[in-house]
Amino acid sequence: MSTPAKPTSVESYKRLLSYAFKYKAYFIISFIGFGVFAAMEAQLINILEYFVDRLEGRPSAPVLGLSADVTSSLWFVPISVVVLSIIRGIGAYFGNFYMSLVGLNVITNLRRQIFSQMIYLPQSFYDTKNSGELISLLVYNIEQVTGSVTNAVKTLFRDGMSVAWFLAMMLIINWKLTLAFICVAPVLGGLMYIASKYFRKVSHKIQSAVGRVSHVATESIQGIKLVKSYGGEKYELDRFNDATNQNLHYGTKFERVSAFQTPVLHIVLALALAVTFYLIMILWDSDSSKAVVYATYAAAIAKPFRQLTKINSIIQKGLAAADTIFEVLDLQAEPNSGQQKLNAPKGRVELKDVHFGYNQDTPALNGISFAIEPGQTVALVGSSGSGKSTIVSLLLRFYDNQQGSITIDGTPIQSLELHNLREHIALVNQQTILFNDTIAANIAYGSEHIDEARIQDAAKQANAHDFIMALPNGYQTPAGEDGSRLSGGQRQRIAIARALYKNAPILILDEATSALDNESEKQIQSALDELKQGRTTLVIAHRLSTIENADTILVMDNGRIVEAGNHQTLLDRSGVYANLYHSQFS
Ligand SMILES: Nc1ncnc2c1ncn2[C@@H]1O[C@H](COP(=O)(O)OP(=O)(O)O)[C@@H](O)[C@H]1O
Ligand SMILES: [Mg+2]
Repeated sequence: MSTPAKPTSVESYKRLLSYAFKYKAYFIISFIGFGVFAAMEAQLINILEYFVDRLEGRPSAPVLGLSADVTSSLWFVPISVVVLSIIRGIGAYFGNFYMSLVGLNVITNLRRQIFSQMIYLPQSFYDTKNSGELISLLVYNIEQVTGSVTNAVKTLFRDGMSVAWFLAMMLIINWKLTLAFICVAPVLGGLMYIASKYFRKVSHKIQSAVGRVSHVATESIQGIKLVKSYGGEKYELDRFNDATNQNLHYGTKFERVSAFQTPVLHIVLALALAVTFYLIMILWDSDSSKAVVYATYAAAIAKPFRQLTKINSIIQKGLAAADTIFEVLDLQAEPNSGQQKLNAPKGRVELKDVHFGYNQDTPALNGISFAIEPGQTVALVGSSGSGKSTIVSLLLRFYDNQQGSITIDGTPIQSLELHNLREHIALVNQQTILFNDTIAANIAYGSEHIDEARIQDAAKQANAHDFIMALPNGYQTPAGEDGSRLSGGQRQRIAIARALYKNAPILILDEATSALDNESEKQIQSALDELKQGRTTLVIAHRLSTIENADTILVMDNGRIVEAGNHQTLLDRSGVYANLYHSQFS
């Protein structure tokens, strides 16, 4: 997998915006809404002119077709304030609501897209990630990113338009003074930039501190039995206190600067305002009411301006989260270039000189060759780490072998369509995963329609029917809640029923019973014997007693097959197998 060059902020942000721009109509409505909002803000300030005129007994100018009589009347200002505020409120409603709609839709879209990407990613991706990370990507990062996009755009629309309106009005009223006033903008901007950079740095530290808090907490809660049995409570407490202390430390820093920032900004602004007031008083040559309006604009522009300077830090926060999302979205899905489909194969499996390594330096399989004839059973035995499960992974194409060939009924598995290949193989391994659905749905997992009669047949063959019927709702009992009350052996039998229901010609049992005690294993053994009938079976077992009847037993060591034969011939050879066997039965 090649890693593409790291995208720049601009590219990432463009890509993010492209998700949001799918909702153009919402954008336009929101833009108009905020436009109305900003216009009304400005009008509310303009009203002051009429107010002061009235106080000083001057007639006001006519506006919007209203005569001077109307605008100079006693009720003009109060009514205008109410009407303008209502219109401003409506504008804010449309602006905020429709921008939030964009956000919600982007969250949903991105989340679906990334999950549908993840579910098709190759096994090697999952080997390098932990599930916590991936879940936080789906839940937390996406919210962060979307929040960043919509908040930044909201701020840009609302406060950008306010600043533009206010400045335009100031320029209209007195452009010379306004140009002087604008000179403080760079100073303010610079101050805010420094502050926001600091915030970003501290925010990162806070984020990783929060990450550590949840990391430590998850570890100790998940491993609570280990913690208790080894008396690790004190150790865990110390680790947790450490993490929370860090959080407190950086949180304090953040809040200190945050609390400091506002008064500093206000003082700088007050200085600018002071100069403006001074200049107005010595230079103003038109109505005093206009001077009041002008001074109010100068004071009011600070707030939207401050918001605008925050955009960059909002965006940066979102982009950090977006990087991980795009990384996953850009990964290649499982290669599925095979076109052929086998229809009801006999199930002859053959491996020829198969080589494979999870990484380049250490081969896990070193020239494996064997064949399983249709209906026969081949057993793999050998010390752990010798490569048994790796063979299974290659057969199912969780990974692709680097040399040699693997065929089913003579067709190389790489030229089979992936879904078709996996349809013909039923795998039961040590992990018995039950999904949070009914027992019946768990048995019929992966098939389009649920056939109740076949489910029961499968369960009966797997020796599972009786205990399923004893559950509160039988086959309709949710496996999630009550699944935890099922014993390991019971869960394993449901897994076997699942494989029976799948009714695939090739069956793979990878230490399917190793985790069980002798009694449950015996019960399951008969279910497994049932399962093997008429199928090509590859069985990996720890206890040799369970594979004595296999047609062929292959003994593996270090990625190679070192002995092959049936039980009796291998015992007669007095080799590795014989040693293993005697060590288990002495
Ligand atoms: N996902 C993986 N990534 C890297 N190495 C692995 C992975 N899975 C197994 N291995 C290594 O490959 C070798 C064979 O492992 P495996 O096939 O699981 O052995 P077995 O099933 O016989 O116990 C071991 O050395 C193991 O450490
Ligand atoms: Mg294994």
